[in-house]
Amino acid sequence: LSLTQDELKTLVGHAALDYVVEGEIVGVGTGSTVNKFIEALGTIKGKIRGAVSSSVASTQRLQALGIEVFDSNAVEELAVYIDGADEIDGSGFMIKGGGAALTREKIVAAQSRSFVCIADASKRVQVLGAFPLPVEVVPMAARRIVRQFERMGGLAQVREKDGAALVTDNGQHIIDVSGLQISDPLGFETAVSQWPGVVTVGVFAHQRAHVCLLATPSGVETLRF
Ligand code: A5P
Repeated sequence: LSLTQDELKTLVGHAALDYVVEGEIVGVGTGSTVNKFIEALGTIKGKIRGAVSSSVASTQRLQALGIEVFDSNAVEELAVYIDGADEIDGSGFMIKGGGAALTREKIVAAQSRSFVCIADASKRVQVLGAFPLPVEVVPMAARRIVRQFERMGGLAQVREKDGAALVTDNGQHIIDVSGLQISDPLGFETAVSQWPGVVTVGVFAHQRAHVCLLATPSGVETLRF
């Protein structure tokens, strides 16, 4: 049995339905793996109250399936947040933001009691940092933040789309930093979050995953942290 990357994503997207609490509002992340989860959610939409979404893209997909999307401020606490990751380590710490939605993802994760990460086995790493770290920044601080990462030994650049700086759902820019080895994700996240102009750093350590559904060629593995 050999599954394609797309089939592996479908597998964990559907497996995540087991963590959706009936009658509740579910937190929904962003990305190609979450898109499979959203499709699966559509098949049980009568059993949930709705969703809080982490991006314009996910909101559009949810609404197209007839799932009500609530403003995050209208909801006190969510039982579960389901999202993908670009990397996840053995403690449930992650790099996220490959899809540029990291700020809203961290906000919805923070208002959720439990974070269920859905990913394929290629995302599982020993040390975070091989995937270029996304950092959302206020545009006027971009140059300074790029230099600060360079002093740490990283190589940083402003993410572009169609020949211009990419603009996030929040009207900000993204810097991608390669060449980092993030051995202390909690400390790193705390430190970089304080830099002036940093909106959100794509290390999710304070908002780590509690469960990871990892798609492997032999099926879905459940990791608990
Ligand atoms: C979006 O900003 C990211 O945090 C995504 O969760 C991450 O890029 C995973 O996306 P895929 O499921 O497409 O790999």
